[in-house]
Amino acid sequence: MKIAVLGAAGGIGQPLSLLLKNKLPAGSDLALYDVAPFTPGVAVDLSHIPTDVNVKGYTGDDGLTEAVRDASVVVIPAGVARKPGMDRSDLFNVNAKIIKGLVEAVAKNAPGACIAIITNPVNTMVPLAAEVLKKAGISDYAKKLFGVTLLDTLRAETFWADITGYSRGSVKIPVIGGHSGSTILPVFSQALGYDSVSSEDIEKLTVRVQNAGTEVVEAKAGAGSATLSMATAGARFALAIVAGLQGVPGVVESAYVADESGEFAPFFARQVLLGKNGVESLKPVGRLSDYEQKCLNDMLPGLKNDIQQGVDFVQNCGN
Ligand code: LMR
Repeated sequence: MKIAVLGAAGGIGQPLSLLLKNKLPAGSDLALYDVAPFTPGVAVDLSHIPTDVNVKGYTGDDGLTEAVRDASVVVIPAGVARKPGMDRSDLFNVNAKIIKGLVEAVAKNAPGACIAIITNPVNTMVPLAAEVLKKAGISDYAKKLFGVTLLDTLRAETFWADITGYSRGSVKIPVIGGHSGSTILPVFSQALGYDSVSSEDIEKLTVRVQNAGTEVVEAKAGAGSATLSMATAGARFALAIVAGLQGVPGVVESAYVADESGEFAPFFARQVLLGKNGVESLKPVGRLSDYEQKCLNDMLPGLKNDIQQGVDFVQNCGN
C-alpha cells in the first residue's frame, strides 16, 4: 500500500513521516512530497532506519504527481501555521490555495485515495477539498475525506487523566464538532470518572481543550504551532485508515467528516468506523449533558459558516 505525505519536510511533516516509517506495515511505500528542495534528503535520512517501508522523496510539480500517483492514503500537513494572536481562520487565504492545488493533484492521480487533512483551518479546508473532489467527478468523497481532529481527543484524554488520576490514555473521550475554538467539544459526560469531577472543572477543562492549540502557539512564541503532538495524532489517524483499508475489523477513531444526513452540519467531527472503503459508518454522538448540548447548539452557526467558506472558495474559483 502506498501512503503519501504532502508537506513532508515541514514541522509536522518530518515527525509524521518518521512515525510512519517506523510504524507502517512491512512492504508499504511511503512517498514524501514538499515544495522544499531538500525533501528527497529527508527521504534518504529516513531510508537508513531499518524498517521494511520503502521511502522516496519528491519536490516540484512533477514530483507532486509522482508522489501521489496511485496512493491509497494521502496525509496533508502542508501550509502555514499560525502565530500568537492569530486564529486558525486567519490562515485561510494562504492555505486554501495550497490545499486546492494538492487535492486537485490527488483527484487526478489517485482518485480512490483516502485523504486526511491536517492543514488549518480544518473546518474549512475539508469542505473545500470536498468541492474539489466533487468537481473532479469523485462522488464517493464522503467515504474518503477526513479532517484530522484526533489531537483534540489526545489532549482531552491527557488533561482528563491529570484531573481524575486515571492513567494517561486509559480513558477514552470522544470529541465532536470541528477543530477550532468553541467548535471543539469534548464529551466528558461519556468518560469514566465523570461523576467525580465538578461541573465547574468540566467547564474549565472543556475551555482548556478548546484553547490547547493556542496554548502551544503562545508557548512557542512565534515559532509556530503544535508539530510533535499533531504528528502523533496524524500518524495514529493515518495508521487507522491503513488498518481499515486492510480489513482490520472494528477500527474506530475521531475525525471531521462529511455527514450527508446533515444531522448537525454538512461536516462534523465524531467517532468513525473505518473499513476497506474508508468510512464504514458514523458513530452516533450519544447522550450529552445539558452543558454539552448547549455548547453544541451554540457552535453550529459558526461551524456552518466555516464550511460555507470552503464551498464558496471553490465555487467562485471558476475553474
Ligand atoms: C492545533 O490544534 O494545535 C493545531 O490545529 C494548530 C493550531 O494552530 O492550533
